[in-house]
Amino acid sequence: MNALKTEMRMAASLLRLHFHDCFVNGCDASILLDGADGEKFALPNNNSARGYEVIDSIKSAVESSCSGVVSCADILAIAARDSVLLSGGTGWQVLLGRRDGLVANQTGANLMLPAPFESVDNITLKFEAVGLNLTDVVTFRLFNFSGTNAPDSTLLDQNMLTGLQNLCPVNGDGSRTTPLDWNSTDLFDNNYFQNLVKGRGVLESDQVLYSSEQAKTTTRSIVELYSKNPKIFFEEFKNSMIKMGNIQPLTGAAGEIRKNCRVVNS
Ligand code: HEM
Repeated sequence: MNALKTEMRMAASLLRLHFHDCFVNGCDASILLDGADGEKFALPNNNSARGYEVIDSIKSAVESSCSGVVSCADILAIAARDSVLLSGGTGWQVLLGRRDGLVANQTGANLMLPAPFESVDNITLKFEAVGLNLTDVVTFRLFNFSGTNAPDSTLLDQNMLTGLQNLCPVNGDGSRTTPLDWNSTDLFDNNYFQNLVKGRGVLESDQVLYSSEQAKTTTRSIVELYSKNPKIFFEEFKNSMIKMGNIQPLTGAAGEIRKNCRVVNS
């Protein structure tokens, strides 16, 4: 993918698009539909979900060689896999045949996507709502490139906290970004989990996986395992991605193969 040659962060952005698509109405490319009432403008996506133009250019290349066959939902799934692979991560076989949905669901996007200040329990409930489990919660919290602008209450590492406070002074303009995976930006690896063990999770929803009371009986042991064993982490990440890519696909006569990922066919 040429887009990654100019900006490695795009790998993260494309992976996130697939995730934000699958959690709302299933993996049906509903996130790609334009319109003020679309998912693009839901809180978890507005001004942070990105990569739509990259999907457009993949779609037009695919359409010009074989028109009306490959859905936008399948393109999202393949782009997510290739992004992980090209960032040094593992590959997996992407099941194909998803069709594109006919509607976007902004309310669903606001309700179903996990927020960075949610508890482990709440996040887990949102995963369970789409058929995923606690292991999936942990395997997925990685490889976050840019993002937040606010240090939070669960931060332990003093150096990181000072660094973030300098980057984002109180009353700053809110436009600064920071890698969520310190010391391993742009690389798909288990460094994120090593950071959590050292108290260097950037988002509250990161650090709680290791440090919270709830984590002691739920996610902490999985974080420890992944921090020590990248192989197991890669293997479980692969399984989680396959499961996520299978959330409520539209098949058979349901949905359509969109011609343009931003609009339903007329
Ligand atoms: C477990 C609950 C999750 C929470 C609370 C969460 C929250 C966040 C937040 C707040 C950001 C920063 C967005 C920004 O302002 O730019 C982010 C970025 C990101 N998330 Fe998540 N996320 C979660 C799960 C996932 C999952 C399941 C995946 C992938 C399978 C994922 C992949 C990413 C990636 C790759 C980025 C960086 C995107 C970019 O740089 O464009 N996250 N996440």
